[in-house]
Amino acid sequence: MLQCLDENIWVAEQPQKYFGLSIGTRMTVIRDQESCRLIVISPIKPTLDLDEELSELGVVSDLVAPNSYHHLYCNEFKHRYPQAKLWGSSALKRKCPDLLIDNLLMPAGPSPWAGIQICSLSGLKTMGPLGPSPLNEFAFCHVPSKTIVLTDSAFNFDYTFPWLTRFTTRIAGGYNRLEPTILERIASSDKDSLRKSIQEVLSWNFDRVIVAHGAVVEFGGKAMLTSAYSAFLGGTVGSV
Ligand SMILES: [Fe+2]
Repeated sequence: MLQCLDENIWVAEQPQKYFGLSIGTRMTVIRDQESCRLIVISPIKPTLDLDEELSELGVVSDLVAPNSYHHLYCNEFKHRYPQAKLWGSSALKRKCPDLLIDNLLMPAGPSPWAGIQICSLSGLKTMGPLGPSPLNEFAFCHVPSKTIVLTDSAFNFDYTFPWLTRFTTRIAGGYNRLEPTILERIASSDKDSLRKSIQEVLSWNFDRVIVAHGAVVEFGGKAMLTSAYSAFLGGTVGSV
């Protein structure tokens, strides 16, 4: 179930639908080299097989809800790993008071984890049934493997997805290209804030991009993300 992408970083996937569309979802596991602590970003539904694989890698110490939508399995995970600290934004805590959040992800200040950079993507929204909805998303960079972890700020669907997903994302964006969809483009009106956030992400030293929905970009991710957000926000965002 867990796929190793590089030293101390793994992903695991599961099927997921959003308004009837098969988009899948992906969890990222980062291991601290020194302590063998495992940081689980965007947890998927836990299973016995997943438990076993995680136990072979280290001790689950941190669970991270990276935005206001990717929290569905956090409590289930937390019940299985009660010693682990659940992290989420203050907005998520207000939205889902039943979530067992231990620690808040802060929009500014140092990263809580060694070897992992973190950035709040302020200004990023998606269009929901009731209108624009803040994603309150955080991006992460695993410095040793030059890998960033994005959740709903960029997508990269490919031929492995069902035809309806391919058809829809060819039109809406995010098919065979690392980019936000039209839902984020029309909902994110505070482009200045978003530009500032993306500039910070693009200042990181990375090549690989893990997305929650679509295929992992193994090489050239920084150039792709620069291109996508330059097209979205106008002008050139960041430098490659
Ligand atoms: Fe998502």
